[in-house]
Amino acid sequence: MNTLSDRINNLSTSQTLAMAAKARELREEGKDVIGLSLGEPDFNTPDFIKESAINAINENYNSYTPVDGYKDLKEAIIRKFKRDNNLDYSLPQIVVSTGAKQSLANVAMVILNEGDEVILPCPFWVSYAEIVKLAEGVPVQVKTNIETDFKMTPDQLRTAITPKTRMLWFSSPCNPSGSVYSREELRALADVLKDHPDIIIVSDEIYEHINFTADHASMAQFDDMYDRTVTVNGVSKAFAMTGWRIGFIGAPAWIARACNKMQGQVTSGANCIAQRAVITAMNADPSRIGFMVEEFKSRRDLVLDLLSEVEGFKANVPEGAFYVFPDISHFFGKTLNGTRSTTLPISPCTYWRTPWWLQLPVMLSGIQTVFEFLMQPLKSRL
Ligand SMILES: Cc1ncc(COP(=O)(O)O)c(C=O)c1O
Repeated sequence: MNTLSDRINNLSTSQTLAMAAKARELREEGKDVIGLSLGEPDFNTPDFIKESAINAINENYNSYTPVDGYKDLKEAIIRKFKRDNNLDYSLPQIVVSTGAKQSLANVAMVILNEGDEVILPCPFWVSYAEIVKLAEGVPVQVKTNIETDFKMTPDQLRTAITPKTRMLWFSSPCNPSGSVYSREELRALADVLKDHPDIIIVSDEIYEHINFTADHASMAQFDDMYDRTVTVNGVSKAFAMTGWRIGFIGAPAWIARACNKMQGQVTSGANCIAQRAVITAMNADPSRIGFMVEEFKSRRDLVLDLLSEVEGFKANVPEGAFYVFPDISHFFGKTLNGTRSTTLPISPCTYWRTPWWLQLPVMLSGIQTVFEFLMQPLKSRL
């Protein structure tokens, strides 16, 4: 007899985590597996950050931390918001969590009531819809397309808003399309939102530093949006720290207070050693991680270049993050010559209920294998 709650029964398993688990299992069986399912950099955490963690252990950081994070970490985050985004936050507006995923879940849990609608420009990071559902909200997917570089237009936003709309969630740079909203594009969306003062905006900026355009714009930079925007960020992507599990928000104080209360009953504060290391990451000039960004950009260029040589692929030019998002519908029903002994888990990206988009992280070993598989003749270029 299934005695689990409706809440968990209605929740989809994280596809990416399930694929990663399967990959691990196959590897343990001795199979050659190159994992491309998880969105994580294939770099090591920079040494100068690791050293801070080692020091923290030796300095006996081992106790519970304040629920919303160490004060000096929150101060470092405030300086980061000012330095990188020209955003002014104060201590009561910052909450440090166990990854940006928890930051997002906190916000959903404290804002949504049953049946509240959350607008999600689609494609979006797979967890968004599930987190919204977990908080009893209703994800409203707004289909974007390649012609607008997978960005939601003001008209689309206007049409999607109903009396039940409570939030707009989006990421820029976007996982999985790599789209980056310009300041003007954000302003145009803000102009629509001006007429709907009760809608809260969740601006997920976790890929902020992996941005190949000259500029990163934040919704909270507009004075009329600041008081209703939650800016989400973290260290997983830019600092190659996925396993350290630290994310944070800058938010209106009433939302931050509620997230603190929620977190206090669910996980308490985030890991103490990781928090000490993140102080160093926050204080670092972003140029210290520039080498990773450069590498992601050149891999993106390589992948796009190679894709353009295979008939049938259609992809936008990702301006940020580390994914390429090609339409592979052309290949449906076709067969490939030869067999492969390598297993390659890649997220099928269910985009507007059509499973024909690949979310392709541009990780080195993956590029080689994907293109060996797809286009033997071009192997020499890798
Ligand atoms: C858009 C987006 N937001 C948030 C996260 C979660 O980040 P974290 O590792 O800090 O939980 C991810 C991870 O893939 C992501 O792609």
